[in-house]
Amino acid sequence: MAENLIEVKELVTSYGEKLIHRGISFDIKRGEIFAIIGGSGAGKSTLLRVLLLLKEPLKGQVLFDGRDVFSLNEEEKQALRNRMGVLFQSDALFSSVTVGENIIYSIVKRKRVPKGIACEMAMVKIQMANLPPEVFFMYPSQLSGGMKKKAALARALALDPEILFLDEPTSGLDPISADEFDKLIKEIAGTTGTTVVMITHDLPSLLICDRVAVLSQGKLVYCGEPMGLVNVDDPWLKRMVHGERGRRFLVGA
Ligand SMILES: Nc1ncnc2c1ncn2[C@@H]1O[C@H](COP(=O)(O)OP(=O)(O)OP(=O)(O)O)[C@@H](O)[C@H]1O
Ligand SMILES: [Mg+2]
Repeated sequence: MAENLIEVKELVTSYGEKLIHRGISFDIKRGEIFAIIGGSGAGKSTLLRVLLLLKEPLKGQVLFDGRDVFSLNEEEKQALRNRMGVLFQSDALFSSVTVGENIIYSIVKRKRVPKGIACEMAMVKIQMANLPPEVFFMYPSQLSGGMKKKAALARALALDPEILFLDEPTSGLDPISADEFDKLIKEIAGTTGTTVVMITHDLPSLLICDRVAVLSQGKLVYCGEPMGLVNVDDPWLKRMVHGERGRRFLVGA
């Protein structure tokens, strides 16, 4: 099996006239935890939409397992999406049904399994996300912010994805809950071998990552080990690294 699960080559994307990515290239290796960081509006979520095959680039290629994803037909694209799990920036759990039903819906929408089996699968994912079993019967409005994130993670894990995409999973959490969530991601990646792509603003979260890519002004200004960030000459990054959260990242705790 090739080492690279995803290869992005010279990607250019835009919304109308506005260019978001001006030719970016990087690889995501099988089994790694890969972070994408950058200032607000840098194009992180847009990049995620491209990797999820929800937005077509203007130019360039995205290869998944060596295949150009935008040359696939709709059925093949859907089959590929079924191998991906995603936690969007806004958790987007359906508020009118319980957490269990949220996860079951996500399973039966994409896989023909009897409801009883989907129900058991959902319960396993709730446990994997480190939530107590009663959360299965609770509504999103009855959960704390940290529990909602974990419930959304349980849903993203519903079909044992080969690759898990997380868009700002710890935003809005207090530092202790954020650390706990990071630890959980690391554990899940370690036990399942799932490749993880995590968008984050939070430098301490990079401590669980193998590599990080930095988006700035439409370009990748860095892609490599997290500790290498300290040597990158980028104004936004310098402000981040030398801020309070950055200092914690620098001491590695
Ligand atoms: N559907 C859209 N139509 C037009 N412009 C968009 C659309 N979605 C995003 N944009 C613009 O593209 C740019 C990048 O947005 P994106 O959401 O990818 O940024 P981001 O890096 O995820 O930011 P944040 O850290 O705030 O989540 C922004 O200027 C945004 O206004
Ligand atoms: Mg975003």
